Amino acid sequence: MLNTIQTDPLTCRSKDLPTALRSSALNGPFEGRAAVEGRIPDWLRGRLIRTAPAVFDLDDWHADHWFDALGMLYSFEIGGDGTVHWMQRLLECEFNRSILRGSNELGAFGTRSRRSVMQRVFHPTARSTDNANVNIRPNGRHWIAMTETERQLTIDPHSLKTAAEVRFTDALPSELLVGAHPHDDSERKELINIGVHYGARSGLIVFSQAYGSTARREIGRVPLRRVPYVHSFAITRTKIVLILAPYDLRPASLLWSKRPISEHYRWSPENGTRIVVMDRGSGKCAEHQGPPFFFFHTVNAFDLDHGAIRLELLAYADASVIRQGMLMSDIRRDGLPFLTPNLRRITVDPNRADFRMETVGPAVGFEFPMIHYARANGRPHRYVWGSDLSRLVRLDTTTDDATNRSLDDVTFGEPVFVAHPEAIEEDDGVLLTVGSSSVTQGSEMTIWDARTLDILARITVPIAIPLGFHGGFESR
Ligand SMILES: [Fe+2]
Repeated sequence: MLNTIQTDPLTCRSKDLPTALRSSALNGPFEGRAAVEGRIPDWLRGRLIRTAPAVFDLDDWHADHWFDALGMLYSFEIGGDGTVHWMQRLLECEFNRSILRGSNELGAFGTRSRRSVMQRVFHPTARSTDNANVNIRPNGRHWIAMTETERQLTIDPHSLKTAAEVRFTDALPSELLVGAHPHDDSERKELINIGVHYGARSGLIVFSQAYGSTARREIGRVPLRRVPYVHSFAITRTKIVLILAPYDLRPASLLWSKRPISEHYRWSPENGTRIVVMDRGSGKCAEHQGPPFFFFHTVNAFDLDHGAIRLELLAYADASVIRQGMLMSDIRRDGLPFLTPNLRRITVDPNRADFRMETVGPAVGFEFPMIHYARANGRPHRYVWGSDLSRLVRLDTTTDDATNRSLDDVTFGEPVFVAHPEAIEEDDGVLLTVGSSSVTQGSEMTIWDARTLDILARITVPIAIPLGFHGGFESR
C-alpha cells in the first residue's frame, strides 16, 4: 500500500488558483478505495490512467505557464467485482526532482529556467524537459507518458512509478520534439507520430513505430523555414494530414536565451495556414494554403473520392489561447481560459492549391475531442464528444445537432470513450470524465452513457485532482 491520507490532502500553496487546478499531489502518493454511487456497467472493467500538470507553486519556484506545472499521474481501476481502486503519484522524472531540490536547468514551455551564463555559453539551448504531463497511453505491459519533447517515460501502470526513460534505437535526430498525440494503426500494429527538428535544417518528420519497438521508421519529412507549434495531426487510410498554423518560431532566436520557448513563438496571420498531405506509402507531400487559424486538436480525417480528404479539427481564431490564456498570471486573475474553439470541416482537393473550410456552430464550442477511435479513426465518423470544462458535449456530425450535460459542482476535461465490447452502433459505450468538486473539496470520475449523456455512476475520491489534458483506458 502507498501512503494512506495522513495529512490534509488539500494542502495547497496556491490559494489563488482556480478550484479546478487544486492538487494534493505534493503530499502523496495516495491510494484508496473509491466510493461508488450509481451502477458501473458489468462490462466496464479495466484501468483509466491520466496525467496532468499538478503542482504550480513551491516556496521558491512557480510555474508561469499551465503546461509547466510538475506532472502527476492518477488512476482509477475498476475491479472484477465492480469496486474501484484509485491512486495518485507525483510523476517521477528529472524535471520534478530538479525543481523540488531548488534547481531548474531544464527547458520548459513557458517558464524561465535558471541556467547560468556559463551553462548558456556551453549549451546554447536548454536540455529538454521530461515532465510528461500531457498524455499517457498503454504500450504493452507498460504505459508511455509524453510531453512535447524528445523525452518520454515508461510507467508501471500498477504503481504509477517511472520504470525508465524511453531510449530510441534509430537514426532519427536525437533532438526531435516528438508529439504527444500519436496515432494508433491497430491493423498494422504500429504507432504513427510526428517530430519537429529545429536547427540549421529544420523539419517536421513523420515516423511509424511498431508496437513495443524503440526503433522508429521515417515515413517522410517536411522542410521548415519557420517552425510551427504542431500539437496534433490526423491520418486517413492512405494519407497523413499535417496542419501548420502560422504560430511559429525562428530557431536562431533560441540560442543562448534564458527565455522559455513559448516566448520565441510569433503569431503571423499574414502567412496563413498550410495543410500538408503526405502519402503514407511514399512520403510524398502536397501543400495547400488557406486562411490563418490556430488549433490544438484534430478530430478525425478520412479519404474522399479522387484523392481528396475530409478533415475535422477544433480551431481558434488566433493563438491567444496558448499565449495569454494559459499563462498562470492570467489564469489567477481571470480564471481558466475559454476552451471553446469551433469545429471546422475542411476539404482538401489534390487539384487545388487552397483548401475549403466551413465552420460548424458557433453553438458547439468545445475542446478535447473524442471519437470511437478504434472504429472510426481515419474513416468517416458520425459522433464526436468533448468538453468545454463545464459541459460534456455530444455532436452528431451528420446533422450537426449538439447536446450537452453538466455537473453542478465539477469542472472536467477530456471525456474518454470506452466502447461496449459488443458494440454495434458507433456510440454504444460510455464516457469517463474526471474533475474536482468545488463543494466537497474532493474529486470524481463520472461514467456517462455516450448515447444519452445520462450519468451512470459517480466515483468519488477524497483528493484534489487538477484539470489535466489526456489519458487512456485499458480494458481487461
Ligand atoms: Fe492535446
